[in-house]
Amino acid sequence: MAQSRLWTALPEWAVYALAAIPAVYYLAAGFTNNLGPDPLRVLENSLGEWALRFLIAGLAVTPLLRFARINLVKYRRAIGLIAFAYIVLHFSVYLALDRQFDWPAIWKDIVKRPYIMFGMAAFLMLVPLALTSNRYSVRKLGAAGWRNLHRLVYPAALCGALHYLLLVKAWPPEPIIYLLIILLLLGVRRIRPARRQRAA
Ligand code: HEM
Repeated sequence: MAQSRLWTALPEWAVYALAAIPAVYYLAAGFTNNLGPDPLRVLENSLGEWALRFLIAGLAVTPLLRFARINLVKYRRAIGLIAFAYIVLHFSVYLALDRQFDWPAIWKDIVKRPYIMFGMAAFLMLVPLALTSNRYSVRKLGAAGWRNLHRLVYPAALCGALHYLLLVKAWPPEPIIYLLIILLLLGVRRIRPARRQRAA
């Protein structure tokens, strides 16, 4: 009980405030020209990586509750919306700064570059989730319908990780580690704790 109170002591607004720190840091550093010789790349990539980290954090909520009794359910919606905000920022940097709204070039990227295709697919899957992350939508869709819709986060996270894996030319460990963590988090969902299995 005391343990579960400890995990939920932080108010939700504090989670949003803490999670905004990397975005504020990278955007401020970008605007003040403090991101090194290739600021656009650093900004775009950092926002993308933070998006993936928050997607993973959101996926970890259920396994943490089931297997470690750490209850972060209260923060799940905030974590999901934060992940989406990072994806929107990442996508906006791509559209506005990287491609400068050159729509034919953007379209060519989407259909010709598999990593952009996966990134775009992940983004499109997450849009309905962000739009329905409110109590009104849960009521409108019904709990089961809402839960089914929000299962889109699994393929979206996989597409996000594949997007990262495909864009790198060599085989650095980071994208592989992200992909393995996501696969692990999706895999453990299929395992039920022993006590509940016996009861079922
Ligand atoms: C769930 C959605 C997405 C996630 C999680 C994500 C994540 C990432 C990550 C982790 C990186 C590499 C970071 C690094 O190298 O350190 C990256 C790079 C990149 N992403 Fe995304 N991304 C997403 C969606 C998109 C979308 C929708 C686009 C554009 C259509 C996009 C365009 C790019 C580009 C162009 C790069 C590479 C920049 C470079 O050349 O280095 N991403 N993304």
